[in-house]
Amino acid sequence: MPLVSMRQLLDEAAKGGYGVGAFNVNDMEQIQAIMGAATETKSPVIIQASRGARQFAQDRYLFHLILAASELHPEIPIAMHQDHGNSFETCKSAIALGYTSVMMDGSLKEDGKTPSTFEENVEVTRRVVEYAHPLGVTVEGEIGVLGGVEDGHGAGGSGLDHITDPDQAVEFAERTGVDALAIAIGTSHGAYKFNKKPDGSVLKMDVLIEIHKRLPHTHLVMHGSSSVPKDLQDIVNEYGGKLKETWGVPVEEIQLGIRNGVRKINVDTDNRLAITGAIRKVLWTQPEKFDPRDYMKPAREAMQKVVSQRMTQFGQAGHSADYAPLPITEIAKGYASGALDTRPSLAAK
Ligand code: 13P
Repeated sequence: MPLVSMRQLLDEAAKGGYGVGAFNVNDMEQIQAIMGAATETKSPVIIQASRGARQFAQDRYLFHLILAASELHPEIPIAMHQDHGNSFETCKSAIALGYTSVMMDGSLKEDGKTPSTFEENVEVTRRVVEYAHPLGVTVEGEIGVLGGVEDGHGAGGSGLDHITDPDQAVEFAERTGVDALAIAIGTSHGAYKFNKKPDGSVLKMDVLIEIHKRLPHTHLVMHGSSSVPKDLQDIVNEYGGKLKETWGVPVEEIQLGIRNGVRKINVDTDNRLAITGAIRKVLWTQPEKFDPRDYMKPAREAMQKVVSQRMTQFGQAGHSADYAPLPITEIAKGYASGALDTRPSLAAK
């Protein structure tokens, strides 16, 4: 099956009332872990690569690895997504490679660190939408700023520094025409999100619910959504790691989000922890080993287990064969005719 439009995948998720995990990849084993989980749970899937991943693996390696996944698993709809594009040029280069979806993160300036103004964000995101939609490519935007830093991208600081203002979210959706919108509700990238189990004072699910009420046709995206499970932290620390005590986003909060318009859930850290724990365990307990396969195989299995769990918890399991994926040229026609326009003023009609 060719790579499919993320918009179609999210529209189907909205119809079915479930969420779809977007898992970050840097290498072959991570892609295989995701495809193993998708096959096991019969899930459609979003595979995403950050700028850091594209640099690490090199564009053509990564693209062809994901293409190989779609050739080997024609029964699984796969959307290939650029995570946190920092500029029009980054998004354009992903589209040129064959990505079916891009995130233009205009919440930060091109340096990927400094918060931008609302007007700057609108302008660059709208430009990407105008370029991507005629090609059938999906666009995710971000309003408000996530906390933390991932792969060198992020404003740092706490997730509470730049919570999304619902009025701005509505204006942003109207003026850009994005398909999906990442909002800041107190989460941050990386392992250190909360210093205790989060409650409503630090994880603003009420803001998310308000935004969904006002933007019922825009797919919401939760970034920084690793749950950072204690058992994964413990494995890393048991075998020589030095993680400090930390809390992630509880799965039940993500499920509350899914009941309120969240269709895409970004998860990277949990998989990093699973991989690191598995590798540490082999190297710590069997120091005589030196064949990378001896630790990469358990690492891949550990990640597959986490991804399978999330696919089941997000509700995407069992939905891989619900629909026939449309070629992105068909999706482009939907944008051209206005049928896929989700701007609040139009979608309400
Ligand atoms: P985590 O660090 O919580 O896994 O978030 C990943 C993410 O949001 C990627 O964009």
